Amino acid sequence: MADQGLTLKLDVAKVKSDFPIFSKSKYPKLVYLDSAATSQKPRSVIDSMSSYYETTHANVHRGVYSLAEDATRAFEDARIQSGRFVNAEHPSREIVFTKNATEAFNLLSNSLSVHYLKPGDSVVLTLMEHHANVVPWLMLKERLGINLKFMDIDQNGELILDDIDELLRDSKLLSLTMTSNVLGTVPPFKFLVEKAHEYGLLTILDAAQFAPHKKIDVIDIDADFLIFTGHKIFGPTGIGVLYGKQDLLESMPPFLGGGEMIRDVKIDGFTPNEIPWKFEAGTPPIAEAVGLKAGIEYLESLDYEAISEHETALLKYMIDSLQDTFAQDIAIHGPRNIEKRSGLVSFSLNEIHPHDIAQVLDEYSVCVRAGHHCAKPLMRHLCVSATTRASISCYNDFSDIDALIDGLKVVTKMFK
Ligand code: ALA
Repeated sequence: MADQGLTLKLDVAKVKSDFPIFSKSKYPKLVYLDSAATSQKPRSVIDSMSSYYETTHANVHRGVYSLAEDATRAFEDARIQSGRFVNAEHPSREIVFTKNATEAFNLLSNSLSVHYLKPGDSVVLTLMEHHANVVPWLMLKERLGINLKFMDIDQNGELILDDIDELLRDSKLLSLTMTSNVLGTVPPFKFLVEKAHEYGLLTILDAAQFAPHKKIDVIDIDADFLIFTGHKIFGPTGIGVLYGKQDLLESMPPFLGGGEMIRDVKIDGFTPNEIPWKFEAGTPPIAEAVGLKAGIEYLESLDYEAISEHETALLKYMIDSLQDTFAQDIAIHGPRNIEKRSGLVSFSLNEIHPHDIAQVLDEYSVCVRAGHHCAKPLMRHLCVSATTRASISCYNDFSDIDALIDGLKVVTKMFK
């Protein structure tokens, strides 16, 4: 096992003890290496939601009684917390709650298709996008006749920037991930946003895999829109977050129609509500917003620098151990340079199918994800149908990586 002294500031044992699943699940030696799919939840998040239901629950923005006002305040506080989390200039106006990150992409593709994108316009994506940032644009291609251009990647899983000017020139929108959920690649998103703005494009950043690991500053990046999801940053499932610059959100038509999102309705038309409620049709995810706030508070209670230092050490240890143990039998996807990746390692081991690998690892309570990771265009580009992915969080330690390696040794013996 590696020297635990490598971890300078993060008290991983203490962090782990904050997550009940590691002591309460029926798997006493749970090795959870699937945080890129969803993070585990600290006690504070679980308690915040129970407490909300026990003491504060009512519907929001409707009731005139005190309990409903308390619920509304809790919900809107969560919005402000989410806005501050990404350093939004106007946290109460620029944060829209959605069901998940995927719904936020659908909100944008639908709304922008009404007033911004026209037939023949080009949207620039990359080959490493999650389906959430591909399929809504493919649907728009079918419905509206937009063009899609994909930025290519090199053998290291990094974006090829040589023809960036050509791709951006005469395009209308750039939408890209801040961390690939398959390769772990962190592309130069700030440079790309700046470049896109030079050509007058709007920009969307997918921060779903970035947010659990690194601080986001939308003012510094100058992103027009940025999307992340609650359940990957220790919050609950059922809530996603769309950040949008105030003037842009104001200029956009609503996405879903119904209650909450209107100011007035007549039988021949309606007037939309103000932002952000214009984009939140129906009863919103109230308890989920409360849980999200607690998740953000938990994340922010840890030192980002310490998280980054710990996770970088874990990733390096994982890559070195995989490479040293399995040598030419393993192909590790994504950047060689550890500084250019975050959070996860995907690999192919001999010709063994990732589902077989994951199934054998499961016998040792080692949880990894196997499959196409909702990134089929990237899988095709890598000429694989699936990979095995081990992803980490601040509650993982070096012994988790050792358990992965030990399990993989059994796998290779079994499938010799
Ligand atoms: N998008 C999540 C993943 O990559 C679910 O696993």
